[in-house]
Amino acid sequence: MQAFDFTEEKISIMNLSLNTIKLKSVDSTNNYAKALLKSGEPLMPYTVIYTKEQTKGRGRLGRSWHSKEEESLCMSLIIPNIRSSGITLLCALGVHRALRRLCPQKLQIKWPNDIICENKKLCGILTEGVKGFAVAGIGINLNSTDFPADIAHKATSLRVLTGKLFDGEELCREIATSVFETIEEYGGMLTEDAIREYTPLCANMGREVTAENAKGIATGIDPDGSLKIATEKGIANISFGEVIVTDIY
Ligand code: BTN
Repeated sequence: MQAFDFTEEKISIMNLSLNTIKLKSVDSTNNYAKALLKSGEPLMPYTVIYTKEQTKGRGRLGRSWHSKEEESLCMSLIIPNIRSSGITLLCALGVHRALRRLCPQKLQIKWPNDIICENKKLCGILTEGVKGFAVAGIGINLNSTDFPADIAHKATSLRVLTGKLFDGEELCREIATSVFETIEEYGGMLTEDAIREYTPLCANMGREVTAENAKGIATGIDPDGSLKIATEKGIANISFGEVIVTDIY
C-alpha cells in the first residue's frame, strides 16, 4: 500500500500510540483505509490515515464530499473489534470533545454524527465496516471562508467561528486521540453513560424531525445508536438514512 507519496509517524500521546499514515493526495482516506484492511497487512491498534488532498471524497448516503487543500481536514480512523453499531455515535462524541476545546461557541451533534454550530455543519463523519473493523472517515471544514453555492447556507468552518487559521496535521492528532480515548473509555459500546453524554449535545432532541418513514419529535437514543421519534402512531426507531431537523437542514 505505497501507491501515494507517503510518510508514517508513530507518536504517543497520553497512553495512546498513534500510527499515522500521511498521504500527499488520495481519492478518499476511507477507500485507502478499507483497501489496507482488505490487504490483510498487520496494523497497529490506533491507525489513522491523513491526507492533504482528497480527490474523490465520499459523504454519507452516497453523496460526494468536497474538500480543498489547506481548507479542510480529511482523515480516517481504523477502529478494531467493533462491538456495537453505536460506534458511529461514539466517534461523534470524541470529535465533539476535541472541537469544543477550540471553539467558544456551543457545538452540537446532529444525529447521527454531524458536528454543527449555529445550525451549520462544521464536520461530517462517514463510518463504514470492513472485516470486523470500522473505518471512521472524518471531514472538518478548517480554514474555508466561502463555500460552494449549494452548501453556503448550511456550512461553517473553524476559521469562520474563531477567526483563526488551523493546521490540519496538528488537529488530526488531537481528533484521533480524542476519538480513540472516547471509544476506550466506553469499551467500544454506546453505554448508558455514553448516551447520557450524547443526548444533551444532540441538536435533534425535543425538536420536530422528518425521516424517510417517520415524522415527529426526537425523544432519545437507543443503545444500538438509533434515534427514537415520537410519531402519531407511536415510537419509531431510525437506524440510518437522512433525518431532517426542522429549521436546521
Ligand atoms: C457526511 O457528512 O456526509 C460525511 C462526510 C465524511 C467525509 C470524510 S473526509 C475523510 C473521509 N474520506 C472520505 O471519502 N469521506 C470521509
